[in-house]
Amino acid sequence: MSEIPPLRVLSIVGTRPEAIKMAPVIQALAGDPAFASRVLATAQHRQMLDQVLALFGIRPDLDLDIMRPNQALTALTARLLLALDEALGAENPDLVLAQGDTTTVMTAALACFYRKIPFGHVEAGLRTGDLDNPFPEEMNRVVAGRLARWHFAPTASARDNLLREGVAPAAIHVTGNTVIDALLSVADRRPAIGVPIDPAKRLILVTAHRRENFGEPLREICRAIRRLAETNPDVAVLYPVHPNPNVKGVAEALLGDCPGITLCPPLDYLPFVGAMQRAYLILSDSGGVQEEAPALGKPVLVLRQETERPEAVAAGVVKLVGPVYERIVAQAQRLLDDPGYYSSMARGVSPYGDGHAAGRIVAVLRGHRVAG
Ligand code: UD1
Ligand code: UDP
Repeated sequence: MSEIPPLRVLSIVGTRPEAIKMAPVIQALAGDPAFASRVLATAQHRQMLDQVLALFGIRPDLDLDIMRPNQALTALTARLLLALDEALGAENPDLVLAQGDTTTVMTAALACFYRKIPFGHVEAGLRTGDLDNPFPEEMNRVVAGRLARWHFAPTASARDNLLREGVAPAAIHVTGNTVIDALLSVADRRPAIGVPIDPAKRLILVTAHRRENFGEPLREICRAIRRLAETNPDVAVLYPVHPNPNVKGVAEALLGDCPGITLCPPLDYLPFVGAMQRAYLILSDSGGVQEEAPALGKPVLVLRQETERPEAVAAGVVKLVGPVYERIVAQAQRLLDDPGYYSSMARGVSPYGDGHAAGRIVAVLRGHRVAG
């Protein structure tokens, strides 16, 4: 009897959140003899991607080294598409997996389409319904979703979005979000933050990087953070600043000299998880942080107009405040002053996953192997 060859799976990662969310999948594939697992890093992010890959012990088999300083979307897209096409031609995998809504993911799906390589979309079906919010991520995930053969939806509402777009029910698998697998794999270690924070103070943790907030919205966010630090001497603000020059320049100019506010380079994932655990409150426009913080029982004020992650908002543990000075200051102040309100938002629910999403994704692909 001839042996069935392992299924050759190429996992593609480009940015920090993709690496965090694909790490559990890559580890599960590597431990399963049904698969020959390879990893391609586009390195749309350089340092922030490398930080995560090192933490999870992932050494890419291919590295496209795409990142350029202050890269523009069109040039990034064009360079990624050409480089991915060449790599796919050389690798010729049985299938490709990629996660989320970055330019890496959209171009990976498109390059697979042109080469007729089946594409599996991890974290499928998130939608705001507004192509401009978040920009360009809503377009990226719509395109990736249109081209995917497998849709690994984190939640039932993500599945419903895909059904509404006409995706066949059999192609959708509700798995939970792999970010919770990654988070739970490190949270028990209670990692140190590595940045000194006065232990007597309540910590407000901040992240912000969305393109639609560049310019005046980010300045408004910074002014609100400054106001909170100035009027609450019992509060320490920690803001690991995204290296995008459009973010770094504004954050340093508006907050660099403010007592009570610590700006630092992006934290490695372990210390960042430690910072979320230590935080009293989180202000963020990040997708991943909206998923992780509720699982850690930390309230999040989302610095965006819209969210594609409605579950935690519906559960009352995440609030959309937009990049709007009055709303940020008023909501944060209420959480600082009103213990009952704070408790209602710090309940520790995990609508995005139970820590076993990667196993479910790999089981679906193993089933495909048997069926195929
Ligand atoms: C990208 C994704 C966004 C995702 C975010 C996660 C796109 C268009 N955007 O946004 O969806 O939420 O990553 O963080 O796919 N830089 C560095 N070192 C790094 C990473 C970035 O210096 O390790 C700087 C570079 O100047 C780079 C710039 O940041 O050109 C922008 O990087 P890019 O990936 O285009 O956009 P992000 O804002 O990081
Ligand atoms: N994160 C990190 N260090 C930081 C800030 C964030 O490791 O300094 C992690 C965070 O825990 C989450 C992910 O990075 O898992 C989110 O990435 P980001 O906010 O860059 O992207 P998004 O999720 O918005 O696409």
